[in-house]
Amino acid sequence: DIPVITIDGPTASGKGTLADEIAHKLGYAVLDSGALYRAAGLAASRAGIDLDDGKEVAAVARALDLRFAQGRVYLAGEDISDALRLETSGQNASRVAAHPPVRRALNQLQLDFRRAPGLVADGRDMGTDVFPDAGLKVFLTASAATRAERRHKQLIAKGISANIESLRADLEARDARDKNRSASPLHPAQDALMLDNSAQTIEESVELVLDWWAR
Ligand code: CDP
Repeated sequence: DIPVITIDGPTASGKGTLADEIAHKLGYAVLDSGALYRAAGLAASRAGIDLDDGKEVAAVARALDLRFAQGRVYLAGEDISDALRLETSGQNASRVAAHPPVRRALNQLQLDFRRAPGLVADGRDMGTDVFPDAGLKVFLTASAATRAERRHKQLIAKGISANIESLRADLEARDARDKNRSASPLHPAQDALMLDNSAQTIEESVELVLDWWAR
């Protein structure tokens, strides 16, 4: 049985950074499931498909020609990593993620990431739906103010100016949609360990999760 650690939580809680660090320390593979939803949203909008049409988007999701290599994401050979990180890609991902047939198509792809010696999977429903038998499930949160500040810093570092209040409003809107949808609403698995990292450094969170894993 190949071990899996899942890290779920709301937007900008630091799931991706934590997942990458843990995977690196353990020599495990990593699955950024949000990238699949973002890529499906991007591919569908490029194809001129209505993102609220679940059937049409699911057809695109099933046919996604995605490749992950050296931390970059390729769609039909094109490096789409930067486009995927745009806030519009996050909003579009959240729209397509509400459709059950889209989730079914992407869940299938996600299961293929499980490989020896282990996997760290981050997203919204990794511990609840995709890897319910995971050996460790972490539900990562941080206050909305902290998350807005972190996103703000990331953007500033990229030379993009942004308003912290509107970033906070955007992330709260996306959280609300992810929590209130009927398909796989964002919620902690009943056996998840809760981690609020508002007042923690990345190193502290990494150490805590590695500690949990070692037990
Ligand atoms: O990085 P951030 O947390 O902002 O977003 P993400 O993890 O890339 O996910 C983007 C969107 O995809 C989320 O707002 C969810 O609506 C959706 N998603 C999902 O429904 N299930 C997952 N396992 C991962 C992402």
